[in-house]
Amino acid sequence: MKTVYVLNGPNLNLLGKRQPEIYGRETLADVEAACRKLTDAAGMELRFHQSNAEFQLIDWIHEARETACGIVINPAAFTHTSVAILDALNAFDGLVFEVHISNVHKRESFRHHSYVSLRADGVLAGCGVQGYELALQRLIRLAA
Ligand code: DQA
Repeated sequence: MKTVYVLNGPNLNLLGKRQPEIYGRETLADVEAACRKLTDAAGMELRFHQSNAEFQLIDWIHEARETACGIVINPAAFTHTSVAILDALNAFDGLVFEVHISNVHKRESFRHHSYVSLRADGVLAGCGVQGYELALQRLIRLAA
């Protein structure tokens, strides 16, 4: 059975409560349920994680090297700062999709640059939490 990782960076544990005018009212548990529907239907295993710690996200990416055909990642603020997450993704051979709930290009200029985009096969921004499903659908199609 093929495995996919969906990884979430800092503050996304507060999804649904944090700045709902930007990120909406759906929770990370809602996102996980929507992702699981798609992977179940595709006969794939889903590993869905969130952490506020950069090292933990890196460790999951390393774990995915051994086991997964693709990663969907919302690195949150680490998008704009983390060469270490980029390096970890560059050490992963499978598909990588980057998701942002908000349209980062419509926001502060510090959000316009993404280290992760240098590695991502596709980027979804501004589609709300549906961006996770769109990214996963694309990954499933390519990995099938
Ligand atoms: C985000 C956008 C980032 O700039 C921000 O730091 C986040 C969430 C998004 O999903 O829109 O925490 O990745």
